[in-house]
Amino acid sequence: MSSVQLLFETAKSARERAYAPYSKFKVGAALRTKGGKIIAGCNVENAAYPEGVCAEGGAISALILAGETEIAEVLVMADAALCTPCGGCRQKIKEFAGDDVKVHIANLDEVKKTFTVAELLPAGFELNEKD
Ligand code: THU
Repeated sequence: MSSVQLLFETAKSARERAYAPYSKFKVGAALRTKGGKIIAGCNVENAAYPEGVCAEGGAISALILAGETEIAEVLVMADAALCTPCGGCRQKIKEFAGDDVKVHIANLDEVKKTFTVAELLPAGFELNEKD
């Protein structure tokens, strides 16, 4: 199975566990680490709406819990035309992924489009104190 297929199947299973009773919009995310671990996340909503967590954010929390910090590939899945990560999640992905890392966007059937991290977040924030 190719790495994209593995990410696809992982995101699909994760999406089925999403807790999205308010939006009814379930999202699954899967990350591959540089060392080859596959890590999943799903969105978890809350009655206090802003407290909800995106699938990508959940996957990144699981990444850290797994003792990993280097993302090599990402796949995000939703039953949508093109569920690209929200602005905040782009910055979260950037924290652990190089500019060339691929972010695949899939619907329930197939990958619809692939971006690099740099394409999704040009000029993303980097913490550089005075130079
Ligand atoms: N959502 C994600 O989990 N990831 C995305 O890339 C876009 C949006 C979630 C947040 C919320 O639970 C629901 O989808 C609708 O916005």
